[in-house]
Amino acid sequence: QLGMNLKKTVVMVGMMGAGKTAVGRALAAKLGVPFLDSDAEIVKAANMSIAEIFERDGEAFFRTKETQVIDRLLDEERGILSTGGGAFLAEGNRDLITDKGVSVWLDADLDLLWQRVRHKDTRPLLRTANPRQTLSDIYDVRVPVYAKADLAVKSDPKYSIEDMAERVYQAL
Ligand code: S3P
Repeated sequence: QLGMNLKKTVVMVGMMGAGKTAVGRALAAKLGVPFLDSDAEIVKAANMSIAEIFERDGEAFFRTKETQVIDRLLDEERGILSTGGGAFLAEGNRDLITDKGVSVWLDADLDLLWQRVRHKDTRPLLRTANPRQTLSDIYDVRVPVYAKADLAVKSDPKYSIEDMAERVYQAL
């Protein structure tokens, strides 16, 4: 057997720009286990970008899909699952994730998050008149919820993606 035998899927949670996808992918490669990504699955199934789904069908529709996809992925195979930044907020999702997986919060400071998301146009929630303020507002609401994750790993610009994957691995 090549990959590590995970007892539960490791679920990356945290803000947009925290590095859930990059670190999750690196961790999966390191452990030789599948990498799963709820946003990517939703995009694939809808054949639309996240921004298009929000625009055409609304956020509530996206959230319903997100729950379905996370539920399915957690049942299908064990690996590293990267989720969208809002996935851990609904209590039902949290119960699902906590039941079938181990949640890891990638905890990054607001300034770092902003540096990472400011030049991207892929996040519909930040399409506002003052995206920096919007990010800050979202951050304040969500941090206490992310803190409910099983584990927290602090993100820092001095750590590479590989370093972060190693730090998550050590925390598991
Ligand atoms: C969202 C984060 C996005 C994506 C959608 C909503 C959020 O994922 O799921 O735009 O509510 O924070 P990332 O965290 O990968 O940017």
